[in-house]
Amino acid sequence: MTKENLEIILSKYPVNKKDGLLPILQEIQNEQGYLTDELLAAVGKYLNLPANKVYGVATFYDQFRFHPQGLYHIRICRGTACHLFGTSTYLDELEKQLKVKAGTTSKDRKFSIEIANCLGACESAPILHINESFYTHVTPADLDRIIHTLKEKTE
Ligand code: FES
Repeated sequence: MTKENLEIILSKYPVNKKDGLLPILQEIQNEQGYLTDELLAAVGKYLNLPANKVYGVATFYDQFRFHPQGLYHIRICRGTACHLFGTSTYLDELEKQLKVKAGTTSKDRKFSIEIANCLGACESAPILHINESFYTHVTPADLDRIIHTLKEKTE
């Protein structure tokens, strides 16, 4: 993100008003895709908040990311309903097969995995969300097919 783009976002919010923190962080993430230490520091300076406070808020909310997303960004639901269907095992399989740990992006930037607490469609559990697509009632066989397709698309 350029300095000018950051200034455009910040200028929409009053200086030194901490109420702007969440919307500013959301706008930065919408624009850049993730947050960096430098951006958090700049936001803190603008709002007159200590860097550790800004960092604490940013890390508290699941919605914020601290690394660029992969070409395929996989959100796996670990809410109660999905968890009961064994999404922990699904996560293990995704991490193993795609060689990327949850909360990170693979070195080749092909895949990133994010754990979600609930994707808001528990009646369709277990759920995966990959880029713009939702996969519902995912069975282990479905997961195999999904992983296979993702690998094929990125070879
Ligand atoms: S627990 Fe997975 S969608 Fe709600």
